[in-house]
Amino acid sequence: MAKEFKRYLVTSALPYANGPVHIGHLAGVYIPSDIYTRYLRLRGRDVISVCGSDEHGVPITIKARKEGVSPQQIVDRYHAIIKKSFEGLGMSFDIYSRTSSATHAKTASDFFRKLYDDGKFIEKTSMQYYDEEARTFLADRYIVGTCPKCGYDRAYGDQCEKCGSTLSPDELIEPHSAVSGSVPVKRETKHWYLPLDQYEDFLRKWILEGHKEWKSNVYGQCKSWLDGGLQPRAVSRDLDWGIPVPVEGAEGKVLYVWFDAPIGYISATKDLTPGWEKYWKSEDTKMVHFIGKDNIVFHCIVFPSMLKAHGGYILPENVPANEFLNLEGEKISTSRNWAVWLHEYLEEFPGKEDVLRYVLCANAPETKDNDFTWKDFQARNNNELVAVLGNFVNRALVLTQKYFGGKVPACGELNDYDRQTIADVAAVKESLENNIENFRFREALKDAMTIARIGNKYLADTEPWKVIKTDPARVETILYVALQITANTAIAIEPFMPFSAAKMLRMLAVDKFSWERLGATDLLPAGHTIGTPELLFEKIEDDVIQRQLDKLAATKAANAAAEAAQHVEDQKDMIQFDDFQKMDIRVSTILAAEKVAKTKKLLKLTVDTGIDQRTIVSGIAEHFTPEELVGKQVLVLVNLAPRDLKGITSNGMILMAEDASGKLRLLQPDEKTNNGAVVG
Ligand code: 2FM
Ligand code: ZN
Repeated sequence: MAKEFKRYLVTSALPYANGPVHIGHLAGVYIPSDIYTRYLRLRGRDVISVCGSDEHGVPITIKARKEGVSPQQIVDRYHAIIKKSFEGLGMSFDIYSRTSSATHAKTASDFFRKLYDDGKFIEKTSMQYYDEEARTFLADRYIVGTCPKCGYDRAYGDQCEKCGSTLSPDELIEPHSAVSGSVPVKRETKHWYLPLDQYEDFLRKWILEGHKEWKSNVYGQCKSWLDGGLQPRAVSRDLDWGIPVPVEGAEGKVLYVWFDAPIGYISATKDLTPGWEKYWKSEDTKMVHFIGKDNIVFHCIVFPSMLKAHGGYILPENVPANEFLNLEGEKISTSRNWAVWLHEYLEEFPGKEDVLRYVLCANAPETKDNDFTWKDFQARNNNELVAVLGNFVNRALVLTQKYFGGKVPACGELNDYDRQTIADVAAVKESLENNIENFRFREALKDAMTIARIGNKYLADTEPWKVIKTDPARVETILYVALQITANTAIAIEPFMPFSAAKMLRMLAVDKFSWERLGATDLLPAGHTIGTPELLFEKIEDDVIQRQLDKLAATKAANAAAEAAQHVEDQKDMIQFDDFQKMDIRVSTILAAEKVAKTKKLLKLTVDTGIDQRTIVSGIAEHFTPEELVGKQVLVLVNLAPRDLKGITSNGMILMAEDASGKLRLLQPDEKTNNGAVVG
């Protein structure tokens, strides 16, 4: 028998306030957490959902430094953007807090102090990278170098974003400071460590034996961490942005962001309710952490060890982490702007909040990484939301207006098909509940849509628009049944698409139903007057999708250009003026050009150098067609010793620039000039 809990505490990973929220965050964490919370509320459970901005950590200070503003200004900006966009998408947190709050500083500080006083930390002095130019220790992302696992040359001191490996600064090849670019030295510094190795037995029993029901990606990651053996983890950093370490002799040191951030769930609960302790300290509470897969170790290993070390707190009952969502086949990246940003979506698609919620849930990366494509977004909207859900609801309501003046007709005698249809709708409830309670939200959404599909099919099969001519009494029954299915649909879709559910209830002119009424056939009594039907969803046309694809293409081009600009060849060895003077470079005109037979790269050019007309063989056939070269003025090194290429003697060299992508460009005088003009 599964344990019955009296109340629920739902937490959602606190997003870093160094950028806006994108669809990857939504599909991985926030949409599932909101579905779960809304469902529990509809069932009348005692549930609170807490979230807030994670406002410490090195990425925030790096961004602030880059922009020449304070970290506080950065977090104020993004906290406001994130909070507003979450509200816009209908995220129903009971509180959206922030870790720069006074409550949080005190809570995290007290937490650390208790562990310190109870002797739960190890103090260790070690050599760490120090930037002598910027006069600062280089924690985590302040240090950059080459990843030892995959060779990526911009890996951070805590993680390689290319291959996802967790790293320590010492593992980086050719490390340099992200602050000044200089090569750092090692200096001695003291930090406090949580000896995770001492919690291995507890974690093994609690997770590996006690929570075999956890999602396999989560359980598997925990098992491999535990099998690999845990090491003490530093919980302080040498930084000037964060919560000061509340200990004598810790000047210039702050709590590590991953120590304070999860405590943010506790501080948020404190800010929400004076009764916060019953959510955190009673075994009757079921705590569930919604996170992305990169947060598993912190929520399943580190935070539980902290809670255990502190004592008095409950542990999470489940941590249903999702995998990652890609965008058009590529990894979502904040720094490369490869994302669909929530605040932009809300501006560009007003009134389509539920479409995004629907698509991200239908396509959620629950068991493996998944891909978001704009074409799929369009197809799901047009073929599922418009054609099934919207179409069914609209037909039921419009026909009721048309035939019965907007009054719910009486239910006559039900035939076998009616009864079967009603039974099919009622049968969805159990599966839907089971799927939500076991964090299978994609399947749960399918269940909810099944009710609309049943309704759609029922109308298509019973054809009330035909029957009305011969048997209006039968149509009363058909529409009575169809309207009850509509009301059932409104209940079932509420956790997933709250805006549409509310709109349906408005159109039906009824208040919200409780979840327990799902499956009922008396939700709308005969004689009840419904409101005016409106369209629930609209078709999304190709040009709308194309605009989004164009936007992504522009991002890709901008990234390629930025990347190219970074890859500049090193300067060659120094030469003397006389060396340069030896070269005779002349403005020349290409008179004729043809491909050299049986070669891919060579063009045979006839060039007027002003001195003479001569042949030059050039390896540029993959970059230019003969036609586009003829008539062009170029620069030619005319005193280069002749060379034979494929039996043709080449007398000179056309000068070109090769960009970072390998593309060749002609060098030309800025205006046409006489052939033979001397370059130098
Ligand atoms: O990965 C992240 O975005 C972190 N800011 C999540 C923190 S979750 C919690 F511990 F606060
Ligand atoms: Zn790597």
